[in-house]
Amino acid sequence: MNSPGKGSRLLKNLIVEVNNSDISSIKETVTQLIRIINDPKSSADDLKHAIEIDPPLSAKLVKIVRSAYYGYTKEINDIREAIVCIGFDTIKELALNQKVFNLFKEYEYIYGYTRISLWKHCIAVAICGKLIYRSVFRQYDDTIYIAGLLHDIGYIVVDQFLPKEFKEILKKSRFEKKSLIDAEKEILGFTHADIGKRIAEEWGFPDSLVYAIANHHSLYPEQENEEYQKIAYTIYAADYACQRKNIGYDENFHERKNLFQKCRIKLKLTEKAIDYIIEKVENEITKMEEAGFF
Ligand SMILES: [Fe+2]
Ligand SMILES: [Fe+2]
Repeated sequence: MNSPGKGSRLLKNLIVEVNNSDISSIKETVTQLIRIINDPKSSADDLKHAIEIDPPLSAKLVKIVRSAYYGYTKEINDIREAIVCIGFDTIKELALNQKVFNLFKEYEYIYGYTRISLWKHCIAVAICGKLIYRSVFRQYDDTIYIAGLLHDIGYIVVDQFLPKEFKEILKKSRFEKKSLIDAEKEILGFTHADIGKRIAEEWGFPDSLVYAIANHHSLYPEQENEEYQKIAYTIYAADYACQRKNIGYDENFHERKNLFQKCRIKLKLTEKAIDYIIEKVENEITKMEEAGFF
């Protein structure tokens, strides 16, 4: 087992590596999108500028909007037209998806894990979280979508910078029937949620987002303000509900059932409502699969 001191040194070094790696290439676009999202005065022009500074992202978004999925086969030529056709909110989500997806591209199958299956899990949690939040609070908060996409970013960091340890963690989780979180604590002395928290802080994400990422496996919402609780409960419920339905990667964290029930009750969501939302998530993911998004 890793000693606590060794664990915190390792975590500190990892964050330095992240900041000097291709993972940090998503930072600028994602933080800029967060700024636009959090500014009620932001316009389609601000979004257009944020996307245009990233030409591969612009080109990719235009291609997606012209694909059979959205059906605008010919008439879209630039990002401005894409925003007009499919809307500000959808373009924001697509831009985030594309940017974050860059982290998940590489393919290696290790004890049931692939980056693509993790990506599918993250996008499912983002969509599910958005739908839960909208149905419970009757509002749209983009922070939920980003928290869903990035809540498990810590896995990518361990996968990329500590591949030997990552294989050990996956092996331990699979063969000793442990959650990934417990295997991480034993082998590293910290978890992917701790890494996610540190990255979110380093990148200047809003506190509510830092809190949701940090606590997606160990929820203590009573200690925090109401806004944080709303986001954290939603992400927790979405994360659990997607894994229960085997959508994408499963973190083998089944003992979370009690905490999930607590979140569900706090959110005043019935099991039936969760099933209804999950069905929508599954349909959305299937449509994305058919359009070749994964
Ligand atoms: Fe996780
Ligand atoms: Fe997760």
